[in-house]
Amino acid sequence: MADAFALAETLAKFDQSHLLTGVADLAQAEREAYLARLAAIDWEEQRHHSTPPPMGAVGPSRVVDFAERARREAEFTRVGEAAYRAGAVAVLMVAGGQGTRLGSSAPKGCFALAPHSGKSIYQLQAEKVLSLSRRIGRAVPFLVMTSPMTDAETREFFAAHNDFGLAPGQARFFSQGTVPSLDQQGRALLARPGKLLENPDGHGGCFTALVKSGNLAALRQQGVRQIVYIQVDNILAPVDDALLVGLAEVESADAITKVLEKAHPDEKVGHLVKVAAADGAGSHDVIIEYTEVTPEQTRSKSATGELNYRWGSPAMHCWSVAFLGRLTDQGYRIPLHRTAKPLKAWSPGTPPGTVSEIKGWKNERFIFDLIPEAKVSLGLAIDRDAEFAPVKNKDGTDSPASANDLAHRQYVAWLTAAGVKVDLPANARIEISPLFAATKAQFLARWDHRISAVSGDYYLEG
Ligand code: UD1
Repeated sequence: MADAFALAETLAKFDQSHLLTGVADLAQAEREAYLARLAAIDWEEQRHHSTPPPMGAVGPSRVVDFAERARREAEFTRVGEAAYRAGAVAVLMVAGGQGTRLGSSAPKGCFALAPHSGKSIYQLQAEKVLSLSRRIGRAVPFLVMTSPMTDAETREFFAAHNDFGLAPGQARFFSQGTVPSLDQQGRALLARPGKLLENPDGHGGCFTALVKSGNLAALRQQGVRQIVYIQVDNILAPVDDALLVGLAEVESADAITKVLEKAHPDEKVGHLVKVAAADGAGSHDVIIEYTEVTPEQTRSKSATGELNYRWGSPAMHCWSVAFLGRLTDQGYRIPLHRTAKPLKAWSPGTPPGTVSEIKGWKNERFIFDLIPEAKVSLGLAIDRDAEFAPVKNKDGTDSPASANDLAHRQYVAWLTAAGVKVDLPANARIEISPLFAATKAQFLARWDHRISAVSGDYYLEG
């Protein structure tokens, strides 16, 4: 039970005393739970938020570009493949976001996306891991990070589908934490009397949650050295990526960030850049979010004429387990960033059950804030069309329709590369199950020339 006096003092110190108004009217169990939650929050931390570095200090990062990829592909792929086969690789998918932009209250992963099979995003992602596991003959650990908002539904969804064929226990679920949503004065908001309005603490919550849930320790114990990190909402994100893993192993990288040339300077992606230390001693990589830069910054160039904000991050990484372990041992905590959001909160004095829209702040941790801590951080240039098909919005850009379109174009490219004549009406869709092939290389290795031409809808199952 929280010490009521100490709590009142702490709340007063951080201008949060309004949270205690009406507490005496709550039922006992509710009151205790509420006070315990208030006492568990680090109110000092909520006051601070990351700010982007000054423009003059920013320059391009070291990126393994297409020329270097091509030159060193054989070496990286050989080493990465050996790591997969030795059981040294796990896949981590973050799926704690609420999918509000998609216009659904269910976890984004439950969305039935695929055009012919109707497979959900979760199924498509799980089948990639299954396909990889079958290929190498061992169950690759599949860590799925949920949030209190998506946890129960996600677990039930996987269970109802028999974990999409994964081995028992192969999918390991763990939940991230939450942080209070704030008004513009930094005061915590309420969802209703006795209940804070909170939001998931960002995908950066994954670092703490990996540790707290015991999953990081389990990975270390099992000899996993590399974590291939993807977001649930990118349906083309590869998990079978020997080149990525091999690069991490060969370069002893703590962190690798896949990067792409931005489609236009204002594209809504984070940017991998190098930042000079304020005291001039050295520099480190960092990802600066699109919400934190001005158009002037995104157009700025380095002394050599390269765009400083050239490389966009599609949020795919490879993290070294030793690096995460080192940060854990140091007690490192990912800082909070705040984003202005319209929030639905209950205001004291209004009837319970009513909420109104309030302009406020959503605090979140970003996983890529681990990057400045890395001794070795690298960017790896990728082919956007092959690896990036995000599902963020209901319609238009980055929607289910646009993601399906990108996937379709990829499958057309695979069939064409295999010598199939593809001549389609505009509305025809090709779908290839990840269980048949999850990468172009797998497709070409497995393709049995069952057809020589395709002229309409076509679905290929595993
Ligand atoms: C994100 C990245 C951006 C990147 C873009 C690529 C951030 C802050 N920005 O933008 O750098 O270029 O994707 O598509 O990440 N998630 C959680 N828990 C949370 C919040 C999010 O697990 O508390 C997961 C979501 O389920 C989703 C992913 O993180 O899989 C991305 O979240 P989202 O809020 O959609 O980020 P974007 O603004 O699209």
